[in-house]
Amino acid sequence: MTDRLTIRRPDDWHVHLRDGDMLAAVVPLTARRFARAIVMPNLVPPVTTAAAARAYRDRIRAALPADARFTPLMTAYLTDATDPADIEAGFLDGSFNAAKLYPAHATTNSAHGVTDLSRLAPVFSAMARIGMPLLLHGEVTLPGVDIFDREAVFIDDVLDGLVAANPRLRIVLEHITTRRAVDYVRAAPANVAATITPHHLVINRTDIFRGGVRPHLYCLPVAKREEDRLALRAAACSGEAKFFLGTDSAPHSVEAKECACGAAGVFNAGTAIETYAQVFDEEGALDRLEAFASLNGPRFYGMPPNEERITLERARTEPPAPLRAGRTRVVGFPDAPLAWRVVDQA
Ligand code: DOR
Ligand code: ZN
Repeated sequence: MTDRLTIRRPDDWHVHLRDGDMLAAVVPLTARRFARAIVMPNLVPPVTTAAAARAYRDRIRAALPADARFTPLMTAYLTDATDPADIEAGFLDGSFNAAKLYPAHATTNSAHGVTDLSRLAPVFSAMARIGMPLLLHGEVTLPGVDIFDREAVFIDDVLDGLVAANPRLRIVLEHITTRRAVDYVRAAPANVAATITPHHLVINRTDIFRGGVRPHLYCLPVAKREEDRLALRAAACSGEAKFFLGTDSAPHSVEAKECACGAAGVFNAGTAIETYAQVFDEEGALDRLEAFASLNGPRFYGMPPNEERITLERARTEPPAPLRAGRTRVVGFPDAPLAWRVVDQA
């Protein structure tokens, strides 16, 4: 039985770092583990222009510990009014690494998201031409669609047409939660990939109600059935190039989570790689953790893998303590002990 594992240093291909006091509190956790991270643009107001992305990147860099070795990769928040020329110029000058599509009102700070995908056709064709990845929050927002069906309906009603109409566009279906998504991505052409979070590998929808409602396990897309969780575990642990690490770590204050209408988001930045290691260990797939965490993502984005290494060992560790952020606290995932810990990073 393997008790120690050394892999290339991982990257996080989907994270929320926020701004201000929250940014200062959470970015050290991401920067300690991950060499690079794709940073979500759903701030208030959203990061819609290259100038805004550069300014946000400067704020992230200013919040990093002095000894951090971490590169934030920035994303453009697409709206109905996105100018293809600004997206293209921002990608070519390094201000953006990808563009993020939130269907309007799908999740936190998505009010400015896209209402009509057809308006973005010129943006998608520019992105396909220059090789800029499109990152999808893959849920429909029609009020009549059950929350547990929103990802599957998005695949059928939106994604399939988008893939067919843009055969050269690199597309990441983010934080997938269903067997349907696993099957779809697997069968799709090589330009379609998916990220998988640590929490969707660990919890199913029943866990959100274990002994009472557990707001810190609520995120969007919401966790689905056990059969879905098992399909996600098989996909992540397969080592297949289409599936890679994206934590979707999404911090909210304890007050915003523990209230009558709690915010969506699981905060896992401090424990993500340990949680993935535990899952891969349980699945007998530790030899594939490096592909999922450190190789498949860079390959999809056309970047070299990291040269640094990180070593994990099997050891029981207490669950994370709440993290202080300005005048509030953020409760981290998981709420149970971890089975792996990081022992070395070089
Ligand atoms: O649970 C979520 N939280 N899902 C998202 O898509 C957004 C995120 C956030 O920003 O809090
Ligand atoms: Zn997210």
